[in-house]
Amino acid sequence: MSSAMGAMAWGMSKRVVSAMAMVVVVLAMAQSSEGQGGQSSWALLHQNVGIASMHTAVTYTGQVLFLDRTDIGPSLINLANGVCRDNQRDLSSQHDCSSHSLMFNPADNSVRPLLVQTDTWCSSGQFLPNGTLMQTGGYNDGVKRVRWITPCGSDGSCDWVESSTDLLQAGRWYASNQLLPDGRMFVLGGQYSPTYEFIPSNGMGLFNLPLLESKNYFDWYPFIHLLPDGTLYIFANRDSCILDYNSNTVVKTFPTIPGEPRNYPCAGSSVMLALESGGTSAPEVLICGGASIMAPGNITAQFPASQTCGRLRPLDTNPNWAMQDMPIRRNMGDMVMLPNSQILIINGAQNGAQGWDTAASNPALNPVIYDPNAWTFEVQPATYIPRMYHSTANLLTDGRVLVAGSNCHIQYTFVGEFPTELRVEAFQPAYTDPVHSSVKPQFVANPTAINYAAPFNVQVSIPSPAQGVIGLTITSSPFTTHSYSQGQRQVKLVVSAPVLLQSNVYGVTGNGPLNPNVAPSSWYMLHALHQGIPSYGIWVQVQ
Ligand SMILES: *[C@@H]1O[C@H](CO)[C@@H](O)[C@H](O)[C@H]1NC(C)=O
Ligand SMILES: *[C@@H]1O[C@H](CO)[C@@H](O)[C@H](O)[C@H]1NC(C)=O
Repeated sequence: MSSAMGAMAWGMSKRVVSAMAMVVVVLAMAQSSEGQGGQSSWALLHQNVGIASMHTAVTYTGQVLFLDRTDIGPSLINLANGVCRDNQRDLSSQHDCSSHSLMFNPADNSVRPLLVQTDTWCSSGQFLPNGTLMQTGGYNDGVKRVRWITPCGSDGSCDWVESSTDLLQAGRWYASNQLLPDGRMFVLGGQYSPTYEFIPSNGMGLFNLPLLESKNYFDWYPFIHLLPDGTLYIFANRDSCILDYNSNTVVKTFPTIPGEPRNYPCAGSSVMLALESGGTSAPEVLICGGASIMAPGNITAQFPASQTCGRLRPLDTNPNWAMQDMPIRRNMGDMVMLPNSQILIINGAQNGAQGWDTAASNPALNPVIYDPNAWTFEVQPATYIPRMYHSTANLLTDGRVLVAGSNCHIQYTFVGEFPTELRVEAFQPAYTDPVHSSVKPQFVANPTAINYAAPFNVQVSIPSPAQGVIGLTITSSPFTTHSYSQGQRQVKLVVSAPVLLQSNVYGVTGNGPLNPNVAPSSWYMLHALHQGIPSYGIWVQVQ
């Protein structure tokens, strides 16, 4: 492990940092926002994990699942115990002793290789209510596959299982998933698949979604947000609708978002802002970045990426997009919901679009943090590692953001401008700065399960006297790939005023989220917040 400062200094000397980037870093340091303070920073966690993670998900045991594709040739880490995979259908290595999936342990930055059988290239996934990850589709022999991995601790031996009989009804390459309130998985879209299906299907077939029907290519990896009324908000390219999946009816359509396309290969990213008061607030969708519609067809031009974000309140009467400019334009960015309900926009490039080789250029090395209440952006310090196509960003329970991947090449390639990236970093938001330790809350007693609309008690210690409320939020763990975190959501819970129980220890009664539409049953990270500073999170099962 190297310190953030060491890593930064090393990077500066290795890579030309533009004068512009230097200026924005200095600005961010000078204007840390009220109640936040401290410095955001970067840390290099691992020099070479052996694979470039194209899909990443944090499991409820704390281990982080990394997943690449199988048909990419040899990776830089072998399967354990001399195991090799023999698969005549693999497009690159029919006898392959290297690994394409890992468990990464953020506690000690160690890795354990996993064995995946069929091609997971550009697949989709999400955690089930019991914390098992369901992962769907891919390419070639994997295009209709369903795979599962049940998480284990660092001493466990959990691995991928897949079925050769429980298949998707349509091939799904570049699809998106959403866990439904009843525990079924909703799987939508992908190349030549303008349809959705349910797992388990319970005898139901494929359903067309008109939003996808007329389009190909610009609507891959559509954005899906489960709204608190139990319907699905679905966005593809520049248009969106609400689908009632119980009656398979589109019940509402929305104005076209201004600006560029927002889905593959022009990826922006999207989140639903944190639901307030246990899920009783009006939901609001945020979409940021994208690429010029001309960019995928004209790589030499390297058209500038989108600089805009749009906000839409889909359950309002006749809503429209409220547009804002970001300080930095970006495609292939990842949006991560932080425990303080601000939105980190990280990774990606300022020119071009998604795709191999030089499809994009001018890496967006500075993340920005969006405060949805103030409608403001704050530019964050730059990394020195470009995170271009096939990179990911995921929230860890301790509030850091794990950054992995970046591979613009059909095989692992370590030459040229954007080599295959095997280094893993953490972006450490300013709230992790030790300068906040006197106000940072810490759980000393907590539940491991939270019931819908039912009270639960926590005890939180804070070194200095508590001021104001101690908030509680639950944040899901998404399946992150291609700039979109499938299943990402956050709910701010209703809380009682803190009661001083003993020296520095406060009791707070929280109320579980309203119902499974607000937060489908699954494992969530529970964070306490005091003075804008989140505790380390603990995993709770919402049920
Ligand atoms: C979790 O649920 C899925 C779907 O019902 C099931 O296939 C899987 O076996 C369950 N995992 C465990 C560990 O029980
Ligand atoms: C690509 O874009 C540039 C700049 O707009 C233009 O000059 C060029 O003709 C375009 N090339 C193609 C093949 O469209």
